[in-house]
Amino acid sequence: MVDDINRIVETTLAQIDGAKSTVALDGIEREAFGKKGSLTSVLRSMKDIAPEDRRRIGRLVNDAKARVQGAVDARREAISREEREGAAQAQRLDITLPGRFIRLGRKHPLTRVLDEMCGIFIGMGFTVVEGPEVETPWYNFTALNIPEDHPVMDEKNTFFLGAGLLLRTETSAIQARVMETQAPPVRVLGPGRCYRRDAVDATHSHTFHQVEALVVDEGISFADLKGTVELYFKRMFGEGTRLRFRPDYFPFVEPGAEVAFSCHVCDGVGCPVCKQSGWIELGGCGMVHPNVLENVGYDSERYTGFAFGLGLERMAMLKYGIDDMRLFYENDVRFLAQFR
Ligand code: FA5
Repeated sequence: MVDDINRIVETTLAQIDGAKSTVALDGIEREAFGKKGSLTSVLRSMKDIAPEDRRRIGRLVNDAKARVQGAVDARREAISREEREGAAQAQRLDITLPGRFIRLGRKHPLTRVLDEMCGIFIGMGFTVVEGPEVETPWYNFTALNIPEDHPVMDEKNTFFLGAGLLLRTETSAIQARVMETQAPPVRVLGPGRCYRRDAVDATHSHTFHQVEALVVDEGISFADLKGTVELYFKRMFGEGTRLRFRPDYFPFVEPGAEVAFSCHVCDGVGCPVCKQSGWIELGGCGMVHPNVLENVGYDSERYTGFAFGLGLERMAMLKYGIDDMRLFYENDVRFLAQFR
């Protein structure tokens, strides 16, 4: 019996010593003190011991229990200390290491120009509105006084999507959407993405941005249009900005004009960017055609209006002296990082 107790204690102490985790320690403890544990069995067999030996053996068993329990407690404490130290070591912060460089993102040049443009127009009392990029022929053509079989539909190189839908070719599609939901006076700026089956070159892309402006009220004249456009360009590009208005045809305005800017690369002398003309065309403008007003239920005898649509990429090219529009879409950080 005494040998049994000593053997159990020795083996259990060795196991406790080698335990690497509290889970392992719990198992060892259960094996010694559990219902069918080694020391519990010894205690249970005490009833078979001769009465004269019971006191001595009992003390031996109690000592054995105390030794094993003491060793378990000490090992548990040691393990939890090791675990705490290990965790602290893993999280150790070396304050002598050089800091990590955080690369700050920047606004894309097109976003910067658009933000600035919106700010100028909001200052003039305009509201910024948006329209869908997937449009119906009604808003993109018919409401804009462009009959369905009109050759201008081909000219715009439309991407048709089927099911009576298309990708809008110009932000003018926003015009009827705004007017059908509100009565005059209207004074809105509508920026957005447009799509055309155009060949890609330094000044053209199949996907590009326009900014539309629409003003409708009583007594609006071409002078308001010219004054607004000039005020905007002078605020955006400086007092010395040279603008050119030339008669142009757009079915949804009458009269219509093309707005051009003196070429920023050659200053009007002629170069590949302006196709040797000295001017970069920025967009179209004109007095809203009475048919467009009537299409949305406005009284064209009472109300007149003007509209213009400018190419955002071409404005950004002028603003930053960029000679190729494709740079805007390539997402080359060396290019983008220059705009702060
Ligand atoms: C229009 O789209 C008319 N909706 C403008 C307008 C609005 C006229 C209101 C009258 C009243 P246009 O097709 O010329 O016009 O395009 C306007 C501008 O969008 C161009 O001058 C150019 O700056 C830009 N643009 C047109 N096509 C492209 C293209 N493929 N890539 C980049 N920019 C383009």
